[in-house]
Amino acid sequence: MSTHSAETRRRRTFAIVSHPDAGKTTLTEKLLLFGGAIQMAGSVKGRKAARHATSDWMALEKERGISVTSSVMQFPYEGKIVNLLDTPGHADFSEDTYRVLTAVDSALMVIDCAKGVEERTIKLMEVCRLRDTPIMTFINKLDREGKSPIELLDEVESVLGIACAPLTWPIGMGKRLKGVYHLLLDEVHLFEQGRNFTRQDSTIFKGLDSPELEAALGAEALAELREELELVQGAAPSFDLGDYLAGKLTPVFFGSAVNNFGVQLLLDFFVEHAPAPRPRATTSREVQPEEEKLTGFVFKIQANMDPAHRDRVAFMRVCSGTYAAGMKMIQTRTNKEVRIANALTFMASDREIVETAYPGDVIGLHNHGTISIGDTFTEGEPVSFTGIPNFAPELFRRARLRDPLKMKALQKGLAQLSEEGATQFFRPLMSNDLILGAVGVLQFDVVAYRLKDEYGVDAAFEPVTVATARWVHCDDAKKLEEFREKNAMNLAIDGAGELVYLAPSRVNLQLAQERSPAVRFSATREHA
Ligand code: G4P
Repeated sequence: MSTHSAETRRRRTFAIVSHPDAGKTTLTEKLLLFGGAIQMAGSVKGRKAARHATSDWMALEKERGISVTSSVMQFPYEGKIVNLLDTPGHADFSEDTYRVLTAVDSALMVIDCAKGVEERTIKLMEVCRLRDTPIMTFINKLDREGKSPIELLDEVESVLGIACAPLTWPIGMGKRLKGVYHLLLDEVHLFEQGRNFTRQDSTIFKGLDSPELEAALGAEALAELREELELVQGAAPSFDLGDYLAGKLTPVFFGSAVNNFGVQLLLDFFVEHAPAPRPRATTSREVQPEEEKLTGFVFKIQANMDPAHRDRVAFMRVCSGTYAAGMKMIQTRTNKEVRIANALTFMASDREIVETAYPGDVIGLHNHGTISIGDTFTEGEPVSFTGIPNFAPELFRRARLRDPLKMKALQKGLAQLSEEGATQFFRPLMSNDLILGAVGVLQFDVVAYRLKDEYGVDAAFEPVTVATARWVHCDDAKKLEEFREKNAMNLAIDGAGELVYLAPSRVNLQLAQERSPAVRFSATREHA
């Protein structure tokens, strides 16, 4: 096997899907710890700062700095190379969070056992479903009282519409937590506080029949476990690799991230079964990761918050071929050739200059506003990857200018900042308003600050009665024109010149859809 295909096959590129506080940061730390990328837990810094971020710029800057360095974390584990792409969560939640999910080959869903399936998780899972992304599930905080395991599996199945195959099963919960049973390995792993940092530092029993196990768990707990397992094995589906890879079934692990418990079992299973880089659709053909020529696409652009470096970093996912420092690539949208000498990689927490990168890896390209979200880079072939959409914003504000003479600068600033992809900008057909849309509330503060700092524009953002947005399309030009006339009050043009319906309420959106059945209302927009 060539180096290229061997390197490709050992890549595991994924992201964590969770609601704030379910334990994503803690689990990330533990994964890095098992991967040897950090020596001690606690290196994914600043989560307190991120959580309590206010609109104070210092906090913003700090937090944004953190998300640059932890955007991609790469570590080796059991002969595989794991790329964990960060999904910005608390205050820095934005459209980027959604779009990261278009750049991974699989996802890991973390659920708090006391809270069950929460709102943010539901939204992120909708995005995963667009590409039938394979999902593994970790049910966390088993050291606390929570819902019963069966109730949790039922909830995942009914709310998220995905079958659950438990791979581990908890023995007790909260103060009574004794361990987990691994259904495939037929092993009991004991929960012992302060241990389980390595396999050598864990107590493991093979099967359920040893007297030592009975002594460790107590006869009653063991009998209860046997009963539960009988029930579960009868009722729940067993793990099926094909169904998992098709996004129809999720293997479920139970554990406690903060206690390292159950994490290694998850990671072992993950590197074995999670998919290596998969083929990707383009406008003209499917690109195979094994192909020798380099291709990749940009899924995120992040401004450099260091005022001395006004550049932006574009994050490119490699889809095929090998990236080598200094090579030339074509940006297919502009057909321009670029030489990439100093691409960045993100090893745990340090930025380093990367020499080579393989499919599944992410490299950071410096740019001064010439690269856009969705851009494809190749060695010359004029293709563009599809499936890197814009997502309909969920929050809207009207820009209010303090100095009316700065209108031009405001328009330019909003347009350029929207190109980075964390916000979107709309101009209504019937008014001179400028409306900004985002999926995370902090983005309005970021934009206001950067307008002032980078464009010299003093603007504020005020509430506007827009509940949601949909891109509208209609194959029949006459019907589209009719629709435009009837709904002009609610229509706008987005940054890419596309027609968008800005609905004042969900009910209004529903009515508009019912009244114009020939018009398609879309919650995502593909990049041109
Ligand atoms: P997030 O990134 O998903 O938002 O969650 P994060 O890891 O920051 O965890 C949220 C809180 O839950 C943290 O507590 C963390 O310590 C706690 N936590 C994570 N895993 C477990 C677990 O297995 N069991 C229990 N009991 N708690 C867990 P915090 O008090 O908010 O922060 P900190 O002071 O611990 O940093």
